[in-house]
Amino acid sequence: MPKREVVLHVNGEERVVHIRSADVLLDVLRVQLGLTGAKPGCENGDCGACTVLVGGQPYKSCIMLAIEGVGQSITTVEGLRDAPVQRAFASCYAFQCGYCTPGLIMNAHALVERGLAFDEREVQEWLESNICRCTSYEEIEKAVKSLCPPR
Ligand code: FES
Ligand code: FES
Repeated sequence: MPKREVVLHVNGEERVVHIRSADVLLDVLRVQLGLTGAKPGCENGDCGACTVLVGGQPYKSCIMLAIEGVGQSITTVEGLRDAPVQRAFASCYAFQCGYCTPGLIMNAHALVERGLAFDEREVQEWLESNICRCTSYEEIEKAVKSLCPPR
């Protein structure tokens, strides 16, 4: 299958990549751009370890074609360096093995950006698309709560 050159807008930079029409965004980010924060877990759209933001919305990059990202603003966990959500996860110990953490941080960041007051049920539902096998959801909720305005 022939490759074509396209430009992706990732973490505020224009990045040139060479993609086939069937290439998924996760692989292009990791292999061509060296952005290994998004993790390959299930690679089936179930676990959320590969979550990135596209136009500010969380997407599972293992089931998104790279070509769909052309013309969109893509943010990976590398683009959130020193963001409040990263500091909140660290200070609340919201990780254990850490494999799922980048995806959870992306999802939590998108939730916090909505500017809504903390609602336990909504946070639980929002984070359901990210599977953490270390059962550290309590700390993750604390991290999100620390970033949401009081009700
Ligand atoms: S690796 Fe994408 S959802 Fe699991
Ligand atoms: S911190 Fe280990 S799977 Fe989530």
